[in-house]
Amino acid sequence: MTTLVARLAAIVGEKNVLVDEAAKAPFLQDWLGKYRGAAAAVVRPGGTDEVASVLAACREAGISVVPQGGNTSMSGGATPDPAGRAIVLSLTRMNRIRDVDPVGNTMTVDAGVVLAAVQEAAKAAGRFFPLSLGAEGSCTIGGNLATNAGGVAVLRYGTMRELTLGLEVAFADGRVWDGLKALRKDNTGYSLRDLFVGSEGTLGIITGAVLKLFPEPKARATAFVSLRDTSAALSLLARVRERCGDRLTAFEFITGDCLTLVLRHVGDVRLPFTQVPPAAVLVELSDSDDDSALGARLEASLVDAAEAEIILDAAIAQGATQARSFWRLREGISEALVREGRAAKHDVSVPVAQMADFIVAADAAVAAAAPGVRPIMFGHLGDGNLHYNLLKAENTNDADFAAVAPVLTRIVHDETARCRGSISAEHGIGQLRVADMSRYKAPIELELMNALKAVFDPTGLLNPGKLLPDMSNH
Ligand code: FAD
Ligand code: MLT
Ligand code: ZN
Repeated sequence: MTTLVARLAAIVGEKNVLVDEAAKAPFLQDWLGKYRGAAAAVVRPGGTDEVASVLAACREAGISVVPQGGNTSMSGGATPDPAGRAIVLSLTRMNRIRDVDPVGNTMTVDAGVVLAAVQEAAKAAGRFFPLSLGAEGSCTIGGNLATNAGGVAVLRYGTMRELTLGLEVAFADGRVWDGLKALRKDNTGYSLRDLFVGSEGTLGIITGAVLKLFPEPKARATAFVSLRDTSAALSLLARVRERCGDRLTAFEFITGDCLTLVLRHVGDVRLPFTQVPPAAVLVELSDSDDDSALGARLEASLVDAAEAEIILDAAIAQGATQARSFWRLREGISEALVREGRAAKHDVSVPVAQMADFIVAADAAVAAAAPGVRPIMFGHLGDGNLHYNLLKAENTNDADFAAVAPVLTRIVHDETARCRGSISAEHGIGQLRVADMSRYKAPIELELMNALKAVFDPTGLLNPGKLLPDMSNH
C-alpha cells in the first residue's frame, strides 16, 4: 500500500493524499451517522487527468475506489466498507465553473462544484438552475448526477437526468470519455450520459458536466396550507395544477407529526397557524410574470379549495422573508428526525393517484406488526415521492426497535411493490438498499445491470458493495 500511496502523492501532490486518521475521519462516516467505514487513504485530485491517473494506479494495484462528493448521501453510497483497503476519491477540490453560456442556456462545471455555487453562478448570469434540495449547501454536481437527485422542483423542471446535457467521465482503466456536448439534440446511438446518471459511482467517475439553464423566475408565490390528510392534498394538487399549470413549481407534503418534530428540534421556525394541523402542504408557483398576477392566481386556487372544503386554512407569504420561513419548516425535517432519534427511513415512490391508499395500507400493516410505532411522513407529493419514516414507539428501546425495523421495512417496500412503485425514489440504493435489490428488481434487470458493470468496470473496483447485490450467491 505504501507504494501506491507514494504513487498517488506523486499524481495529486502529497498534501492531497490524507492518511492521518483524524484527517480522513470526516470522509469515512455518512451524514446520518449510520455507516462508518475505513480507508487506506483519502485522495483529492485537482483535475480530470489526475482522477484518470489515480484510477489507473489503483487498478494496477487492485485497490478499490469509493468516489465521494459532498458526502450527503442518505443511503451510505459514499462511505467505504470497514475493511480499510479502499481509497476514497474526493472530488471537492475540482470546483471550477468552466463556462456559462447565457445564449445557449448552458453551464459547464467540474463535478466537485457545490450545488449552491451553481445556483449562484446561474443567477449571476441572469439565469436559473432549478435543482434544489436541503443539502444544496454541501452536495456536489457529481453526487447529484451519480444519484440522479430529485429535490423540491422536480414537478416543474425534472430530476438531475433531465437537467443534464453532457458528461465527462473517467473509467477504472484510466481512460476518459469527453461527452461535454451542449446539445439538446444528438441522436448518435446509445445515451451513455443517461447511463452514468444514477449509476452511484459504480461505472465511472464523473469529472465534468454540461447543465441546462432556465430563464430566471421573476415572481414567486408561496403558501403554507393546512388540510385533513393525503387525499385532501391530492385533491388540492389537481386543482392548483388545473388553475396554475406549469407555474406550479413545488408541492411539498408534511404530516402534523412531522411538523411537531420540526417545532421541537429546529430553532427559529414558526408555524403560520395557531395549532399544528393534521397535515400541511407547501405550495409554490413561479413565473416570469409579475408578482401580483401570480399571487392572485394562487389565492384564487386556495379560495376555491376552501369553498370546496378541501383545505382547512392557508397562509400566503406576504414577501420573500415569510416564504423563506415556510421553507425552513420544510427543510428542517431531516435534521429534526436525526435529533428525535434513530428512524427507519424509506424513500419510496408510487403512482400519485395511489399515494393516499398506499399510506393507509402501509400504516395499517406497520401498526399491526409493531403497535405504537410512529410514521413520520413528508415528501414531494407531486412526484409521487414519499419519505415514509418510522420512529420507535414511546415505550420501546432502541435495541428492540432495531430488531423489528427490517420487518417494518419489508412491509413498507412490499406495499410499495404492490403499487408497482420504487424502493428508492431519489436517494439511491447505496449500501442501505443493496440487499433489497434481489427482491424488488426483476432478474433480467439485475442480469443486464451486472453485464453493464462488467463492461465498464470489469475488475469491480468502483464503489464495491453499492447498488448491485453480489450475484455470486444467487
Ligand atoms: P455523495 O454523498 O458524496 O455521493 C453520493 C453517491 O454518488 C455515492 O454513491 C458516491 O460514490 C457517488 N458519487 C459522488 N460523486 C461522484 C462522482 N463525481 N462520480 C461518480 N460517483 C460519484 N436527495 C434528493 O434526491 N432529494 C432531496 O430532496 C434530498 N434532500 C436531502 C436533504 C438533506 C438534509 C440531506 C443530508 C440529503 C438530501 N438528499 C436529497 C440526499 C443527497 O443530498 C443527494 O443524494 C445528493 O445528490 C448527494 O450529493 P453528494 O455530492 O453529497 O454525493
Ligand atoms: C428531503 O426531501 O428532505 C430529503 O430527501 C431528505 C430526507 O429524506 O430526509
Ligand atoms: Zn426528498
